[in-house]
Amino acid sequence: MIDWSKLTFHYTETDYIVRAACKNGVWEQPYATRDKMIPIHAAATGLHYGQECFEGLKAFHGIDGKVRIFRMEENAKRMHQSAEGLLMTPVPVELFCEAVLLALKMNIDFLPPYETGATLYFRPLLVATTPDISVGPGKDCEFVVIPTPIGPYFPNGFKGMPAMVNRSVDRAASQGTGCWKVGGNYAASFRASEAAHAMGYECMFTDAKTHKYIDECTASNFIGIKEVKGERLKAKGWEYITPRSSAILPSITNDSLMTLAKEMGMKVTRRKIRVEELADMQEAAACGTACVISPLTKVVDPDNNITYSFGDKPGPVLTKLYHALQDIQYGRVEDKHGWCLIVE
Ligand code: PLP
Ligand code: COI
Repeated sequence: MIDWSKLTFHYTETDYIVRAACKNGVWEQPYATRDKMIPIHAAATGLHYGQECFEGLKAFHGIDGKVRIFRMEENAKRMHQSAEGLLMTPVPVELFCEAVLLALKMNIDFLPPYETGATLYFRPLLVATTPDISVGPGKDCEFVVIPTPIGPYFPNGFKGMPAMVNRSVDRAASQGTGCWKVGGNYAASFRASEAAHAMGYECMFTDAKTHKYIDECTASNFIGIKEVKGERLKAKGWEYITPRSSAILPSITNDSLMTLAKEMGMKVTRRKIRVEELADMQEAAACGTACVISPLTKVVDPDNNITYSFGDKPGPVLTKLYHALQDIQYGRVEDKHGWCLIVE
């Protein structure tokens, strides 16, 4: 029996994973299996040359008892792009969706109940299996969907966390693989994130070329909230700012929040953000599927001996955005954009 309230962002085994292999360009039908081990040739290009990519998406148990999967097709399309980026055989969007739906159906008992704060997370993984030692892309691959019930990504949840600017380790090169969800980006970031954790911080990555601009915050996009005053604005307004960079993952959460922010009358801007601009922001956060929105209490820039403070509690704008998104995901408000697939 799982204690849903005790779940963290770690792997809990469920009954089934779903698998489908591609051989000579032909995909097999996805199937569910209780065996969590995938046999892989020791010479597979995925193991040697990092030819693999993955995804992350969630199913929510709604207030009405219905199950909702959030923007699954967007994850399918992004995995397609990641695969193309590494010259892998992409998983067709329909096959991706079919596999996730099968993984949900076969593990429905692992969907956390409404209001536990936990969700069923799916980790689709694509790995090149062609045995070849020569340095080049393999075309055969294995696609797996691993479901696992999860709790909050950050131990503090929506309470806020401190971050530290990093300029000594690059997560991804500016013309590299940062815009795709490939394992190598994460392995490359471990030195920085573990060093930050050891000091009690999350890591804020800067652009690899100049280290002047904010790229990502932990394994999430960055958002800043800035007060704007203009003649045309009768009352105080807010600007939602998020980095434009060739090295960051196009976050589906960020995209959804930008839409919601516009609907709330906010100005939404995607542009390069210098680290010093944190001083002009009233609120700041990391955002992604796993953490939804994780507000930052402060950002320490050790190279310049500056701390940007945002207060110990989440600010009103991020709180409003957080609830607006979660209300859609849990079916508490109308899903005007058709973001959720309701699975009966
Ligand atoms: N940036 C990185 C590096 C990530 O791993 C993720 C997580 O998927 C995100 C951003 C957020 O993307 P999404 O909102 O699609 O989960
Ligand atoms: C997310 O899903 O938001 C992430 O940050 C992905 C990470 C767990 C790899």
